Amino acid sequence: MPERHAPPRRIVLVGFMGCGKTSVGRALAERLGWEFRDLDALIEQRAGSSIAAIFQTRGEAAFRDEERAAAAALSGLERIVIATGGGAFAEPATRELLQQGSLSVFLHCAFDVLLGRIPADGRRPLAANRETMRRLYAEREPAYRLADRVVDASRALPRELAAEIARGLGIERFEATPGA
Ligand code: S3P
Repeated sequence: MPERHAPPRRIVLVGFMGCGKTSVGRALAERLGWEFRDLDALIEQRAGSSIAAIFQTRGEAAFRDEERAAAAALSGLERIVIATGGGAFAEPATRELLQQGSLSVFLHCAFDVLLGRIPADGRRPLAANRETMRRLYAEREPAYRLADRVVDASRALPRELAAEIARGLGIERFEATPGA
């Protein structure tokens, strides 16, 4: 019996800051003809302020509440690719919401590669220093590994990774857009 008769309703990309969730998510959504949603962008839209401002004025716990509510808001939608923020899948309640009816993919990337990709522009409050990042990376990796699939995101381009994910899931057979 084939492993899967129908595609998942949603594909959720997880992994540490800088692993490429947004760029791969966009490329994957385009490839499948699905909608792309970025969880961080949705949080900012719902809160009417930037993530940095939420952290600064209300603290991380409030941000995690917003993040969980945003994940819940997407949990009924179909044919969407969701790029999550780096901490979302490490929060059990948020992870549970993201996993429902979805196929999750961990974009694995070596820590040193991530360091080179994350700009120190203040937009990521938890990327303020290397030691915090190293600790978070180690703490979160076991949660990321709870994803249904793992791909190596250290070197490949977003389009290549999107193609690898789509092929690996066998989704194009069901959902490719005509002429794609
Ligand atoms: C966070 C990662 C960010 C954003 C917020 C918190 C984290 O998303 O959600 O700054 O806890 O790792 P990216 O992974 O898209 O940078």
